This record gives sequence, structure tokens and C-alpha cells, in this order.
Amino acid sequence: MAATECSAPGKIILFGEHAVVYGQPAIAAPLAGLRAWARVSDATQPGVFIAAPDLGEEQWLSDGGEDDALARAIRLVQRAAGLAALPPLHIHVRSDIPIAGGLGSGAATAAALIRALALHLQRPDLARDESVAALTYDVEKIHHGTPSGIDNTVVALEKPVYFVRGEPHNRIEPFTVGRPVTLLVADTGQRSSTRLVVGDVRRQWQELPARFEALFAACGQIAREARDALQAGDLPRAGALMDQNHRLLQQMTVSNSRLDALAQAALAAGALGAKLSGAGRGGNMIALVQPAQQQRVQEALLAAGARRALPTQLSPA
Ligand code: PMV
Repeated sequence: MAATECSAPGKIILFGEHAVVYGQPAIAAPLAGLRAWARVSDATQPGVFIAAPDLGEEQWLSDGGEDDALARAIRLVQRAAGLAALPPLHIHVRSDIPIAGGLGSGAATAAALIRALALHLQRPDLARDESVAALTYDVEKIHHGTPSGIDNTVVALEKPVYFVRGEPHNRIEPFTVGRPVTLLVADTGQRSSTRLVVGDVRRQWQELPARFEALFAACGQIAREARDALQAGDLPRAGALMDQNHRLLQQMTVSNSRLDALAQAALAAGALGAKLSGAGRGGNMIALVQPAQQQRVQEALLAAGARRALPTQLSPA
């Protein structure tokens, strides 16, 4: 029976999380080693059955409520394709990406599913990157409340992007690094709700607008300089900018003792820079390393309590 399978990567935010929600530039990159997959197959029994064991979900589409992300993704594709009903389908979704770890698990599962379903329904136009990014954005609203749009963009494009949220259009500039960039992605083991942390930053911004506007603007300036540094292959400069960004995130109160301890451990072991990545208050941090220091920093992160320290590389085109 005909089946269509697609995948999408997890993501890390290299620079500018939180500030990006307020219109400042940010940089994100795909995490090719952690992925989500969706397989759409023709079925014989009427209805659409969704099996997503890694997400603890097995149900008929008709039983999926409005806040069910997979059901929402399927209905969005159905609507975009202008179909009154879907043919009988079996949809299997699996993911290696930890949930609520700031690695874009929700965006990746949605993007993989949207692309596989669009192709299976013979709508390649809806499987194009821009369309997958736009439909994934609508699904992301369930997880995030007010997503900036950076997660769905980077998982759909699968390239490093310089991103500025804007009306009516976001500014999306894929770019390539000037020389290989090796990062370690270290998991605190603490899960954190992006929606809650983003909401808390908003509350603080409303209470102290001048202070938070200044913090966001400083993050934006770092992201601009970081793109130049990454494109030029100036890794020591990129590392120093990561450290500065982490300090600003601390001032926004989105770091915590475990993230700070892992960043410190990475720097003490010779990393060029380290910062939390994503919403913060748990989830993951990233450390920029020279290949010669990778193993030492990896061991230091694990010794400091990281659940894992996964290497990932950004390569020049
Ligand atoms: O999904 P996370 O935890 O990586 O967070 C996304 C980054 C934020 O800037 C905090 C929110 C957003 O919508 O951009």
C-alpha cells in the first residue's frame, strides 16, 4: 500500500531567544542528529488513525480535540488542500527529540507530518518549505501562545537562519557559516514550558518596559554581530557573543542554577562560549567548542550533571 515518509530536524537557538518575540533578530540552526518522522499510509478502514507512541498518543483523528497538535496539523493540511474529507489513512509519528527541552520537538513533529501528508495527498505545493513553515506556525500556537516564528522556520528550511519577526512578513535569511562550527547541546534534564516562560517574560516587560526593551535591544545587537562572526568563521568572537547573550538571559530571569552550572563547566573546560538555548528555566544549553576541546568539554558537561551532551555541527555549504 502506498506510503509517504518525511522527517524534520530539531533546532537550537544560537542567539536572540525571547528578544525575537519583540522584533529583535535571532539566529537558529537545525539539529540534524535529532529528528521527528511521519509516515502516512493508505488504510482500508474509513477514518484517519494517528499512532504517535513517543508522544503517548494513539487515537482516531475524529477524537483529537482542538488543542491536540497532531490532529490540528492534519486538519490544517486538509483545509489547505480544500478537501471536505480525507481518505482512509494510517499516520505514524515518531521522534527522537525530547519534549519540552527547547529543541523544537513540537515544530519538528508538526513539520514532518504536514510535509508527509501534503505529499501523500499529491499536493507538492503544500509541501514546499514556506508552506510547511506557515502551517507549522499555526500548530505551534498550541505550544507557545505567541510564537515568534523562528522554530517553524528553521525546522522547515533545515538551514541556519537569521530571523526577524515582522508584519506582514518575517525577515528570513538563510546563511552559511564560514568554517565548521561544532556545538555541544547539553540537557539539564529539567523540562520547561515555553508558554509559561514566554508569558513570564511578557509580564516582566510590562512591569519594567524600559529595562526589558534595553535587554532585548542588546540581544538584537549581539545577534547581528554573531551572524557576521559566524559567516566570517570567527569562532572566538561567536563564543564571546554567546557568553554575553547568556548574561542578558540571566538578567531576564530565564536561566537557572543548572543552566548556569553547565555553562560554567563548559567554559572551564575550554569551550569558546556557552549559553542557554530556547525558552530557558530548564531544557538545554549549548557550548561552542574547537574540535580539539570537544571531548574534554563533553566530559565536563556530563560530570556537571548534564543528561547528555550531543555534538552537532554546522558546515559551510
Ligand atoms: O521552543 P523553545 O523553548 O526553543 O523557545 C522558543 C524561543 C523563544 O524565543 C523563547 C520563543 C519564540 O517563540 O521565539
